[in-house]
Amino acid sequence: MEVVIVPDAAAGGELIAEAMAALLRRKPDALLGVATGSTPVPIYDALAAKVRSGAVDASRARVCQLDEYVGLPGGHPESYRSVVLRQVVEPLGLSTESFMGPDGTAEDLLGACAAYDRALAAAGGVDIQLLGIGTDGHIGFNEPCSSLASRTRIKTLTEQTRVDNARFFDGDIDQVPHHVITQGIGTILEARHLVLLATGEGKAEAVAQTVEGPVAAVVPASALQLHPHATVVVDEAAASKLKLAPYFRATYAAKPSWQGL
Ligand code: F6R
Repeated sequence: MEVVIVPDAAAGGELIAEAMAALLRRKPDALLGVATGSTPVPIYDALAAKVRSGAVDASRARVCQLDEYVGLPGGHPESYRSVVLRQVVEPLGLSTESFMGPDGTAEDLLGACAAYDRALAAAGGVDIQLLGIGTDGHIGFNEPCSSLASRTRIKTLTEQTRVDNARFFDGDIDQVPHHVITQGIGTILEARHLVLLATGEGKAEAVAQTVEGPVAAVVPASALQLHPHATVVVDEAAASKLKLAPYFRATYAAKPSWQGL
């Protein structure tokens, strides 16, 4: 995997947005897999700015969700469907028809999970999948000890993740759902390019285990080591526990600019 250390979150957002823009120039109807949470916001801001300035045409882009809470009423502002509509689909000027995600309100949740895996495959697969990382090493909502071969399914959030996400629910952990639908790790690994962004000291331990630890279900993000094209972009704080940081810096500094991410 490639590890890129950037000065701050804004620089990480710009770098990844440029990789997405380059993809859209090559493949205008690329399927963009998006994550939610705080971390990817600078990516979405930078990509929307490129669209506004005419640096890239995203009008044919397609967008798909990584995960969704179970049981939030349709239209709840913190459902990931609402968040992706607000942060990605609307700023890029896309229609809701170009956007898909798992249905966390379905009566038949197991059916909704299987249907989402089928829909991703029918759409030709994800071209670039953006990922954040939980303080416990989760990607999507694949919590520690998720099967590395897992498909889209229902998961139970750890107490740590519910505490971390309470900030989106007025600081009230009781409002954070216990269950989610998440693309499985096996599903995520099928995307053509995985790009994980991690910022802040709180992610440093999870990043070190992901990049320099063994591949292990207890650190779900370590599955990125199995992917032929995985990029981990970290700010200085999130990189602070990487033993190989000098090597990663030297490698990226020597990389030809035409190569992109
Ligand atoms: C949500 C998701 C999660 C988050 C992770 C980090 O779609 O994929 O894995 O990326 O919980 O969240 P933040 O960025 O808020 O720290």
